[in-house]
Amino acid sequence: MHGKISPSMMCAPPDKVMEYIRAFERNDIEYLHIDVMDGSFVPNYALGIDYIKQLRKLTDIPLDIHLMINRPEEKLEWLDIRQNEYVSVHYESTAHIHRAVSRIREYGAKPMLAINPATPVNVIEYLANDIDAVLVMAVNPGFAGQKLIPQSLKKISDVKKLLISLGRPDIEIEVDGNVSFENAKKMREAGADIFVAGTSSIFNSAINTDDAAREFRKVIW
Ligand code: DX5
Ligand code: ZN
Repeated sequence: MHGKISPSMMCAPPDKVMEYIRAFERNDIEYLHIDVMDGSFVPNYALGIDYIKQLRKLTDIPLDIHLMINRPEEKLEWLDIRQNEYVSVHYESTAHIHRAVSRIREYGAKPMLAINPATPVNVIEYLANDIDAVLVMAVNPGFAGQKLIPQSLKKISDVKKLLISLGRPDIEIEVDGNVSFENAKKMREAGADIFVAGTSSIFNSAINTDDAAREFRKVIW
């Protein structure tokens, strides 16, 4: 399966959202990554419920909703969760992570377990039957434009190895944070399947979006 691209919509300037979306549609971009923050689990606010509602009127590209909020299992009903979309929750964001991922599945969406740079990979083991993907954070969550934490590449291959040893090589690996063209290539080699494209690539205003999408495809093929 070829690598998939999930542009991080918090990086789109409000006056350019439509332009970007049309370019993403033209280039068969697989997902739109939506960062939801609560100012508590992470020290920032980002996109929210009404943004998601408005965005759904603009495009049919499926969403990849990244919840950086405390106790996400209590807030899932606020979201208009759709089938075949991803919803990711952080291991540390609740005392009841199993309940959180299970609820996402009950809503018919694909649960993704997000792990922070220092979260050990073995937390995946007892959740492997309840998730469809793992989100490996390559930076500390909360802000765009940060620098890759170098051990993230090894982390991706450690997650890949663990999933294979658990007999679940089908669980996808998404990577988020400083996914530049150069880093994306290495992340792909390490085993990543879905790439969050932010200011380091697709939202770099110095590059034309169609060219950026084409370049991205080349490095994650
Ligand atoms: C946080 C976000 C950011 C960001 C990614 O979860 O998803 O990591 O927008 O883009 P970069 O790091 O390239 O700015
Ligand atoms: Zn994100």
